[in-house]
Parts: sequence; structure tokens; C-alpha cells
Amino acid sequence: MSLLTANRPLAHLTPPSGWMSDPNGLWYDAKEGLWHCYYQYNPLNAVWDIPIYWGHAVSSCGMKWEHMGIAIKPRTDRAGVFSGSAVVDYNNSSGFFSDAVDPRQRVVALWTRNTNGNQSQMVSYSLDGGYTFEEYANNPVLDIGASNFRDPKVIWHEETRRWIMVVAMSQKFEILIYSSTNLTDWKYESSFAHQGCKGYQYECPALAKIPLLNAEGEEIKSPPESNWVMFVSISPGAPQGGSATQYFIGDFNGTTFTPTTPQARFMDWGRDFYAFQPSFNSPNGKDVLGLAWACNWQYALQVPTDNWKSSLTLMRQFHLQKHNTTQEYSELALYSSPVWNTDKLERGIMHHWDGIEVESNSVSIFNMTSGAKGLLEFSMEWSVNTAEVSKADFADLSLYFKGAMSEVEYLRLGFEANAGSFFIERDHSRINFVHENPFFTSKVAVDLSPYSISNGVATYKVRGIIDRNVIELFFNDGAMAATTTFFVSNENYIGWLEVRSSVNKVYKITDISAQQLNT
Ligand code: FRU
Repeated sequence: MSLLTANRPLAHLTPPSGWMSDPNGLWYDAKEGLWHCYYQYNPLNAVWDIPIYWGHAVSSCGMKWEHMGIAIKPRTDRAGVFSGSAVVDYNNSSGFFSDAVDPRQRVVALWTRNTNGNQSQMVSYSLDGGYTFEEYANNPVLDIGASNFRDPKVIWHEETRRWIMVVAMSQKFEILIYSSTNLTDWKYESSFAHQGCKGYQYECPALAKIPLLNAEGEEIKSPPESNWVMFVSISPGAPQGGSATQYFIGDFNGTTFTPTTPQARFMDWGRDFYAFQPSFNSPNGKDVLGLAWACNWQYALQVPTDNWKSSLTLMRQFHLQKHNTTQEYSELALYSSPVWNTDKLERGIMHHWDGIEVESNSVSIFNMTSGAKGLLEFSMEWSVNTAEVSKADFADLSLYFKGAMSEVEYLRLGFEANAGSFFIERDHSRINFVHENPFFTSKVAVDLSPYSISNGVATYKVRGIIDRNVIELFFNDGAMAATTTFFVSNENYIGWLEVRSSVNKVYKITDISAQQLNT
């Protein structure tokens, strides 16, 4: 058994070789029925470096990606094609397209050119549906002589029929908003500044109008409340450590974004969710999907994966919904769920139990070693009678996901009633990096409010997808999420699930299931 971790995720986008970071432009080609995703890519070496390129991959389902190589390269090797976004210019507002290009494939990319001391915004367009790009002759389209001015995210604002760009003055902690009618002439509109957690820099901003759902999951057609969301990634300095993405719910009138609450909230409470990129469009024209970089600048350059590094998260679908933040307070929150259709995958046996009262002296085990390829899904709903929990106890309900080849390596997840918090332990590994890198913190905590509570019995839900070296967790139907990488020995894929508790009959699992999958 090799101690190297070539455990490359199956359903997450990874680079063919070399370095991957931020997703850059996610759009749907409605003619071909194909998602296009670009990303920060160094094909030559598995570290971030200049020159940096836009890599490109396509997928029909968002779970299996095909590599398309480099989409945009810098003019010289001393420059970088930094992060940005892609739009579909259906009406040819830019004038780049002839009738020969199908309106659904008129892709324009907006990105930051990084040179020594200057960051400015550039436009490239594709005449072949997003595979190759030409640089606009009069680039840059936006140069204000700044050295930290980057990551343009462009959307179509239907209400004012204009393009809107949000772009970060990273070290001034400002998100600048510009408008345009043709994608090349940009007019300054306003600034969204000094909001939320600052960290050391603002990067990769995004703005999106997100569907608002009622408690029954139906869309509220004419929303009485604001449903614009501003996303701002910060790195380093996130409360979770290093890099994370915060969001603000508010109003956007085509000029100014006004948050309805000034507090920052985080999209994901794991260690590995950064530079979130919402999709420009979607198959049904109204869903908002998106993905992020599943890594953290604190340790991304050192993760132990040989000649390739990092993955993106799964695509997620988003909506806003009232959430009971506490028993006394509810507010709109951003909900997410993975784009995950197991019909498109090979499926193993569905292991399932319901109604277990968990005893402290017994272990419940699913043998999932057959067909273990590192990709699996599980879900659990549990309740805890808080009155029966002694304050002095570490009162946990734990799931041990153990290696099929060696049970010495495992991922432990669980909930502890006194802390009211979910936890992830990712240090049960034979990989040196896991123990030696001080930033790769082994314990991750996700504070949860109960899904429901009555007579002191609190109920919670979790759904998780484990894909070789990354786990994505969704709590309480998507009110909270946590994405975290973990590294175990090569091919020691998860084969066992053990359920244990340190306390007797305090926890009841109403429902638990798990299934091995393969792409
Ligand atoms: C975020 C970031 C962006 C920049 C890119 C360069 O991870 O620092 O701000 O455009 O990476 O690769």
C-alpha cells in the first residue's frame, strides 16, 4: 500500500495534471446540453505560478468532467490570466459575433490580466462555443492603474437591461460595481466596502439573484423580501482559518447593493470552500447553481497529491429560505444542495436502518467493502434528548468511515450534545502531511441549530458525499454546509461505516443510509 495519495476524486473536477485553483466562469450551453467550467490552471507544475491560464472542462451532468485543455493564455509568460467569469451574449451586445454563432454559444470571458504591478480587466470571446478564445483588440477594458484590482464577475441585470460587473479592490476591502451595455465600455456605479469579515483581502466577488422559497419549498413569485446575494471570498483571515466565502443578502437596484443585514455569514463551514463562482445561466433559465475551489490557501500548495493539486466542489443549487437561526429568531438564509443524480452513477447496495436507540456498549456496522472505489453517499437523521445528557460527559454520536484495506485510517464525523456542534476529524491517517502541516487542522467544527425541537428532543439531519479525498456535508436540508479535504493512503477507500456513542440511549437515529457509488 503506497503512502502517496493519488486518491483523485471521481465526481469532482480535478486538473489532468498540474495546479488548479478558483473556478472561473461556469455557464450552460443550451444548444449542446453541456456545462462549461473554467478554472485557474498551471499545467506545467502542481503549484500556483505565473504564467497562469484558464483551464477548461465540460460535463453534461456536472458529475463527470471531460478535460478540454487551456482556454485562455496570457500574451507573455510573465503575465497571468487571473480569475474572472463568463457570460453568454445572446443578443450580440458586444458585436463580437456573426449570425454563424448560435446565440446560445456566444461566450464572452472577462478576466484579470496580472502583470508586475498592474491588474486590469480584459475581455476575450469565443467563436467556437467556449473552447478557444480571441482577445478583444482594445484590451484592457478597465484599467484604473491599481495593483490589486481583480476577479470580475459579470451578470445580466434584466431589470435595467445592462451588464453588471462586481470586481474587488482586494486590499482596500471594496467591491466595485460597474455597468455596461456592450461588455467593453464600463461605467462606475458604486462601491460595497468594508462589510463583514475583512480577513487580509477581498477576492472573487459575485452577485446573484437567488430564488426565494417558502417552507413548503415553493418559489415565492414576487418576493416581499430582498433576494440578491453578494458573495465575497476572504483569504487569509477567515474564522475557520485561511480562506472562506462569506455572503450578504440584500437589494440590488442596478446601481447599488444594499445589504438587509450587515453581518457576514459563511457559505460553508468546512476548511475547503473558496472563490465561489455562481453559474451565468442554467438549463431551466432560473436556477442558480455554482461551485467553489475545494481547498484553502493555508495548505493548498503542499497537499500530498503528486503531480496534480486540488479539486472544485460539486455543483450546488441555491435558494433562500427562512431559517430558525435560534428558537427565538429566524431570518432568510442561503440554502444549498448538491447537483447529484445517482441515476447517472453505478450504485452499490443501499445500506439502511431506521429506529436505532444507540447504546454505549454496542457498535452498529455497515460492511461496505464490496465495490469500494472511494465515492459514497450517506444520510442520517438523529435526535437527542438534551435533558438526559450529563453536562460532564463528552456525549457524542460518531460515524467512523474506515478504510477498506486498513481500518487504521478513517474519517470520524459526529455530533456532541453539550457543544451542540457537529465535528469532523481528519487526522486518522498514515500520510505525513496530515500530521506535519500545522495549518491542516485535524478537527473541524460546525455549529448546528436543530432542525426541529419539541419537549427537549432536538432533531438534526445530515447528508454527505465522500469522494476519495473530499467530503461535502449538508445539514438540515441544506441550511448549513461543510466541505473538507482529507488524505489517506492510496486506494484505501472507505469500506466500513461504524456508528458508536459514548452515552447510553441518549441518541436515537431515526434513519441512516449509505451507499457505494462509482462514476
Ligand atoms: C484567489 C486568487 C484571485 C486571483 C487568482 C490568481 O484564489 O488570488 O484573487 O485572481 O487567485 O490565481
